[in-house]
Amino acid sequence: MKDSAIAAAAAQIGATTTAPTVTTFFDDTTCTATHVVHDPATRAVAVIDSVLDYDAAAGGISYRSAEKVVEYVREHQLQVQWQLETHAHADHLSAAPWLQQQLGGELAIGRHIIDVQQVFGKIFNAGTEFERDGSQFDRLFDDGERFQLGSIDAIALHVPGHTPADMAYVIGNIAFIGDTLFMPDFGTARADFPGGDAQRLFRSIRRLLSLPSDTALYLCHDYQAPGRDQYAWQTTVAEQREHNVHVREGVNEHDFVQLRTQRDATLNMPTLILPSVQVNMRGGRFPEPESDGERYLKIPINRLK
Ligand SMILES: [Fe+2]
Repeated sequence: MKDSAIAAAAAQIGATTTAPTVTTFFDDTTCTATHVVHDPATRAVAVIDSVLDYDAAAGGISYRSAEKVVEYVREHQLQVQWQLETHAHADHLSAAPWLQQQLGGELAIGRHIIDVQQVFGKIFNAGTEFERDGSQFDRLFDDGERFQLGSIDAIALHVPGHTPADMAYVIGNIAFIGDTLFMPDFGTARADFPGGDAQRLFRSIRRLLSLPSDTALYLCHDYQAPGRDQYAWQTTVAEQREHNVHVREGVNEHDFVQLRTQRDATLNMPTLILPSVQVNMRGGRFPEPESDGERYLKIPINRLK
């Protein structure tokens, strides 16, 4: 879809449907915001970017973060319709399959997850049993595809750059934009993972900033910019256009790509990238058990630098 068509579609959705209710659960171990979005009229819920607690030193998993979502959904008598992923995260493991067992809902991500599966399938030498066709998900969204959250209209937008598969979900008058923009004082997501591309990220961000200026933007992460001691995950198109330290109005593509590339060159890989991607490329599931019945994660040597 062209940027102007997106802006028109999103404006129409924001103006004509009910506003969703959003409750955010912030995991300060991975700095991830899980948004639980519901339609007050039908009580249909989308859980966006859930977190599985992972103890890297012990190889241990637990469900403390996801249990809070389960409690909230049950307490408010909501019906889960969607488990949405904005992308295959590199900093936390998804709890979507576990939440799906507890609460139901269709597990969805962008169609270009297939590209991520191809790249990382090779990096992990995953073997032919790992299907690289997105079949681990119930639904693969195309760019511009419409869907419903209960009675609320929604649209899925392909916003690659951080990874090849990033999606933003515009639900009513709110856009859940994953890892594209961060808070205006922090800037933008990195673009140096395998398959990432700073130029594509810039173009995706321009698409998001062509949404109506009062559109609320909910982010996937916050890392507290220097001088700020509260976590924040909500902003607007207007605030980003005016204040974003990397891509406010007036910053051109060339300058952004240079800045993003220089900054990325200084960043270490996220601590949990290897366990996270290995699980998230499988729709949040661990590799199949080995001959002893146990599941293992792999650490490829010198494949990420
Ligand atoms: Fe990410």
